[in-house]
Amino acid sequence: MASRLVAIVVFLACFAISSAIQGVNITAMLNGYPDYKQFNKYLSETKVCDEINAREAITLLVLGDGPMSTLVLDADQSLAGIKNALRLHAILDYFDPKKIRNLPDADTLTDTLYQAGGDAAGKMGNVKISLLDTGKIAFSSANPGGKYEATVVKTIKQMPYKLAIMEISAPIEFDGLFDTPSANNLTRILEKAGCKRFASLIATTGDVMKTYESAMEKGLTVFAPNDDAFDAKGAPDLGKMSKGDLATLLKFHALPSYNPKPSLKTVPHARALRTLASTASGKYNVTVDSQGDSVTINTGVDKSRVAATVIDDTPVCVLTVDSLLMPVELFGDAPAAAPSPDDAAPSPSPSSVADASPPAPPPADAPSKPADHKEVKASSAVVSRVSVLAAFAAAACFVVLI
Ligand SMILES: *[C@@H]1O[C@H](CO)[C@@H](O)[C@H](O)[C@H]1NC(C)=O
Ligand SMILES: *[C@@H]1O[C@H](CO)[C@@H](O)[C@H](O)[C@H]1NC(C)=O
Ligand SMILES: *[C@@H]1O[C@H](CO)[C@@H](O)[C@H](O)[C@H]1NC(C)=O
Repeated sequence: MASRLVAIVVFLACFAISSAIQGVNITAMLNGYPDYKQFNKYLSETKVCDEINAREAITLLVLGDGPMSTLVLDADQSLAGIKNALRLHAILDYFDPKKIRNLPDADTLTDTLYQAGGDAAGKMGNVKISLLDTGKIAFSSANPGGKYEATVVKTIKQMPYKLAIMEISAPIEFDGLFDTPSANNLTRILEKAGCKRFASLIATTGDVMKTYESAMEKGLTVFAPNDDAFDAKGAPDLGKMSKGDLATLLKFHALPSYNPKPSLKTVPHARALRTLASTASGKYNVTVDSQGDSVTINTGVDKSRVAATVIDDTPVCVLTVDSLLMPVELFGDAPAAAPSPDDAAPSPSPSSVADASPPAPPPADAPSKPADHKEVKASSAVVSRVSVLAAFAAAACFVVLI
């Protein structure tokens, strides 16, 4: 009896350890603090919460509802602008007041989520920490003209070396923080991203553009195949499709929800996502596979790697994919490559097409966006460290339980 009790206690302790190293749910945590309701609401709407949850160490500077409404007004209520600001308020390291008071320098430069990938890459976006003469801890943008106007009101949470949450008195801002590329002309955005053929198909096929546009207000994630994807081996022959099927295929390339890449990474493997083509009975869904920094959309017939973020303008985001997404409802029976008469080689089966596709070249977003590179490295380091720790914890629990 007693030994069973011990076993249960040990088991629960182990469970606590392993769930802690798997990360926190910042939304659930802040739900316990009604003072930061607005801040938490925007963390969810912009999906910055997913990025925070995936990090190894974060110092989050939260705002009460008053300063938060200042920030929202400064951003002209643009969700994309608010997203930039929230990412600036997430420092990519652990700082509690004690650590800050012992910092050797008067101004300590820190990296923020704002710099990690996305459109901000290459721009400035560091935050400085200082101890004022008054004894208060203050934060400022490191950009020219930044002032120490945001001071710590109180510490909300300290989980050493992993998560610190502090309330600050005012938002940290700088000129240009709220500037965001706008997703108002989808055609132009797709054309500029090397997806001309996809853009033109959307614009000219049935009610597809209308369906996309009406989703833009509430949430839209576009998986845009690049121009080469249409000529790739195994790509369907669009000319042989009926107008109706073509429209369905195009609608299949977007979700009626806002799922930027960091959020797609958090979608459980077993959860199906609705596309713009999804029917009430759940046809034309997709699933997501992710591994480290790589995210793949799985249709059941083929898999397509999410390559780059073209635009992230909450609640609209456009991502490029390496190949066309082929719904099982349209291509499930037929061999993936609609065999053309002059195609002598046996057409590969759908799964071998997916498997044979070259392994994802390391960070896809990297070439034009140096900061993404950093994020990729950092996050894969997190993954491996976390999994080693988790394996260790699991092994320890197992041994103890025996
Ligand atoms: C985090 O918590 C919120 C609120 O409890 C919940 O809605 C959300 O699904 C949770 N997220 C994850 C990734 O578990
Ligand atoms: C959107 O961009 C396309 C391509 O640049 C252009 O032809 C079209 O006129 C634009 N539409 C609007 C409404 O501005
Ligand atoms: C399709 O996705 C929706 C939304 O996630 C879900 O409710 C439905 O069960 C899914 N259908 C199938 C067949 O997976």
